[in-house]
Amino acid sequence: MPGVAIVGAQWGDEGKGKVVDLVAERSDVVIRFQGGNNAGHTIVRRGDVFKLHLIPSGILHAGRICAIGNGVVVNPRVLTEEIDGLKRRGVDTSGLRISANAHLIMPYHLMLDHAGEAKLGKLEIGTTRRGIGPCYADKAARLGIRVQDLLDESILKKKIMTALDPKQQSLRPYAKDPLLDLHAMTEDYRTLGHRLEPYIADTSRIVWETLDRDGLVVYEGAQGALLDIDQGTYPFVTSSNCVAGAACAGAGVGPKDIHEVWGVVKAYQTRVGSGPFPTELHDELADTIRARGGEYGTTTGRPRRCGWLDLVALRYAARINGLTGLVVTKLDVLTGLDTVYVATGYLGSEGATFDEFPYHQSIVHKARGELTALPGWDEDITGARSLDDLPDNARRYLEYVSDFVGVPLAFVGVGPGREEIIATEVVEGLMGAAA
Ligand code: IMP
Repeated sequence: MPGVAIVGAQWGDEGKGKVVDLVAERSDVVIRFQGGNNAGHTIVRRGDVFKLHLIPSGILHAGRICAIGNGVVVNPRVLTEEIDGLKRRGVDTSGLRISANAHLIMPYHLMLDHAGEAKLGKLEIGTTRRGIGPCYADKAARLGIRVQDLLDESILKKKIMTALDPKQQSLRPYAKDPLLDLHAMTEDYRTLGHRLEPYIADTSRIVWETLDRDGLVVYEGAQGALLDIDQGTYPFVTSSNCVAGAACAGAGVGPKDIHEVWGVVKAYQTRVGSGPFPTELHDELADTIRARGGEYGTTTGRPRRCGWLDLVALRYAARINGLTGLVVTKLDVLTGLDTVYVATGYLGSEGATFDEFPYHQSIVHKARGELTALPGWDEDITGARSLDDLPDNARRYLEYVSDFVGVPLAFVGVGPGREEIIATEVVEGLMGAAA
């Protein structure tokens, strides 16, 4: 004990990396439990910028065990490049552990992701085209290749052959691509396997042992509740479960091994890719928020769609995750606005109104946020280190959000820097329990 899950409570890109990085400083193990290199976070350390897609950001704290859990889909090339990049910059990667049971993204998964989106045309999901969906599809179909398969050439080759067989039709446009050659692919993945071998481990056991000796474990989520394959805005979702419950299956622990669940939410709302967005702004204000918040994807560089904070969706995210703490990031981006809005209900077609996040996709697609106006603030808040340091209206905004969803604040981000953050007693409670 204790374990804390840190998950996205919107459509991803909430700034989870910075929070995980801060908590990682005091933790023993950080473990990613789902998603793959569709995620990405940027960490700034003493002026150095690190962009990571797979390795938990805790790796920058020397000696920290950073695990890639069995629920993650791993592109071994991206992972070896990330390891090399860190080593080149003098970062000690000896704390990295990779679950032997994690599934591998293969070259054909990337091809199928591209082909699938092209086929959907205007109806495309807007995936990151990193092969995430096809890899999870193979996992469910029991045609997946796992990290442990990299260590046995004949198993690897057989499994690739079996996995390729039902895909011949869809892969026909790529038939001449050298990346699809069975022998070359096996060789290539064997080489990557040799590189990764020292890091391959039983990550579930590592977490269990850490909890058993009262260490602090961080379960690091990727994407967010509204991109969850079951609870999100299906089909405009990612292909894994992003809610806290997924940490059990994806890290190999039981529900009682998660003691706190912190949901990360921006002080406004963004989304990349297609799909419904009830509080989306289409005017200059969206451009202002995008520019001020640097709202461009870390992984794909795509401009993010921007809008007001959606409290209907946040209350839903709080429920399906069982949130015990709220992390509001980028509050400073709203500084200078006369009025700040939040959605406290949805307006549907023909005058219908909704207090709760609707389960029916047609309703969510047509819903518009019913907005509540809150007074803005002008004062620079980047120096605030406690809630009392904030201007009254900024504090009232946070209180409104926290009261609406019924979850106490854990952290509040007031600027891009690592130290530009307010930690509340919820954080102290966890750190104290871990001490
Ligand atoms: P995929 O995960 O690449 O299959 O993409 C499915 C949907 O999830 C698309 O709308 C992506 O833009 C979105 N998505 C996937 N990963 C992230 C992320 O880390 N942040 C934000 N959106 C994401």
